[in-house]
Amino acid sequence: MHVRAVAAAVPALLAATLLSPAGPARAAAAPQRPELVAGAPQRPVVVAHRGASAYAPENTLPAVDKAAALGIGWVENDVQRTKDGELVVLHDDTLVRTTDAEQVFPDRAPWRVRDFTAAEIARLDAGSWFSPAFAGTRVPTLRQYLRRAERDRTRLLLEVKHPELYPGIERQILDVLGSEGWLDRRHLSGRLIVQSFSADSVRTVHALRPAVETAFLGSPATADLPRYAAFADAVNPQAGGLSAAYVSAVHALTGPHGRPLRVFTWTVDSPSVARTAAGYGVDGIISDKPDVVSEALDAA
Ligand code: G3P
Ligand code: CA
Repeated sequence: MHVRAVAAAVPALLAATLLSPAGPARAAAAPQRPELVAGAPQRPVVVAHRGASAYAPENTLPAVDKAAALGIGWVENDVQRTKDGELVVLHDDTLVRTTDAEQVFPDRAPWRVRDFTAAEIARLDAGSWFSPAFAGTRVPTLRQYLRRAERDRTRLLLEVKHPELYPGIERQILDVLGSEGWLDRRHLSGRLIVQSFSADSVRTVHALRPAVETAFLGSPATADLPRYAAFADAVNPQAGGLSAAYVSAVHALTGPHGRPLRVFTWTVDSPSVARTAAGYGVDGIISDKPDVVSEALDAA
């Protein structure tokens, strides 16, 4: 087993207390996960994928709240842009799967996010598709989402989604992050990572604001990893096909902030897969069921 995973088992509770964002008092109220400390042996961080999306509608404010209620220190989301330039939190490039857009706007097929104004999207129900208990939940703007994450003291793994559809979205995201206080020293010291499947998008974020931690979503060939290390602090691969050798190859490189590149793998909901990934030495596990993954890691 990787040294990080072995070393994580005993000191996890102590580390959770000492490294909690709010200190020991918060750790006592809701168990927090060990945070990211370069070079420290530790249990992987757990990230709630699209919020705690197995228990609340994905990419909504209740999904952030649920992650926080479960004691999960990080949430992941997906950011896109409306027709009139508002940043909103949605995964798909259409509104069909996660809202009632087809009913509210029956003549607007194919219901692309970029064809609707922020006011139109604000009318949609983004919760009923998931459960009647969430009827009336709205698609959050990025600003609303950031404010909720801040209120809940949750860190953010922000994905620039479908950036090829939204020229200039990286600068706009950084502007919103800045105006909401997410680019101050506290947030830049381990509370924010910006990621994308698009290397160009990650490179752009890094070029615009080098202080922001970034991650590339995917599994570049080992030989190509040094090119990514020039602009990404992490390489975040799908869990299927991951190996200890690949994780080690990523860790062997130094990222743009002078620290070893990290690995956050996705999307892991199975306890056994979570334990296997931890054994490979990953730094983070992204999960729809972050509580299940946390318990699996605690029991390992
Ligand atoms: O953060 C990893 C994961 O979110 C990437 O896939 O499609 O869920 O955005 P997707
Ligand atoms: Ca995502």
